Amino acid sequence: MLPIHIMGQAYEVPEGLTILKALEWSGFRLTRGVGCRGGFCGACGTVYRLQGDYRLRYALACQTVVEAGMILGQIPFFPAQRPAYRLDALEASENILVDTFPEILRCFGCNTCTKACPQEIDVLGYMAQAVRGDLPALADASFDCIMCGLCVARCPAELVPPNVALLGRRLYGRYVAPPAGHLRRRVEEIAAGAFRQEVARLKALSREDLKAQYEAREIEA
Ligand code: SF4
Ligand code: SF4
Ligand code: FES
Repeated sequence: MLPIHIMGQAYEVPEGLTILKALEWSGFRLTRGVGCRGGFCGACGTVYRLQGDYRLRYALACQTVVEAGMILGQIPFFPAQRPAYRLDALEASENILVDTFPEILRCFGCNTCTKACPQEIDVLGYMAQAVRGDLPALADASFDCIMCGLCVARCPAELVPPNVALLGRRLYGRYVAPPAGHLRRRVEEIAAGAFRQEVARLKALSREDLKAQYEAREIEA
């Protein structure tokens, strides 16, 4: 058993659990701060210290194994500014991100965001690319962002890096990246009704047959 603290209270939890499971094992019924349990949804951002260590550490609770001496706090939600925009009314211009998020010019390069990112993303780096209007570099650098908001919680300039990056990736996908020929072809096939018969067959299956077919599906390598 490992001694840990959750929200200031001492607990003992079995070795080998993730932080998420340790919370549940300790009696917390999670209705917020949990989602996919697979490291993709960004809902389970966690902050902790290790006893005797001054450093604040950041993690996804579903992906991090609990350690003795962890002093844990969950950050289920952090309020963040999100401007409304219509993608089809925007242009992938050099100034588009600064025009939409003028506050990003306040970034003073402290790198606190990068240190907080559980995905090990160079957040400061992509914020600099956002200011420069380098959409391809920004889209690439921020690709693994799961919108957990931990960098938002820590930014002393009160910026919201994930929302800036999200618009950057949307603009890149819509206006800059080369069109995906295979996707266009598949959309045309769907519109032409190529799968209508197959969909009708699946819809007519019983729940059990549908489950069996799902289990037996071929999974791409
Ligand atoms: S960039 Fe920010 S919101 Fe995205 S994963 Fe990293 S810490 Fe979370
Ligand atoms: S924490 Fe905020 S101010 Fe500091 S580098 Fe990151 S975005 Fe810029
Ligand atoms: S629960 Fe979705 S990332 Fe942890």
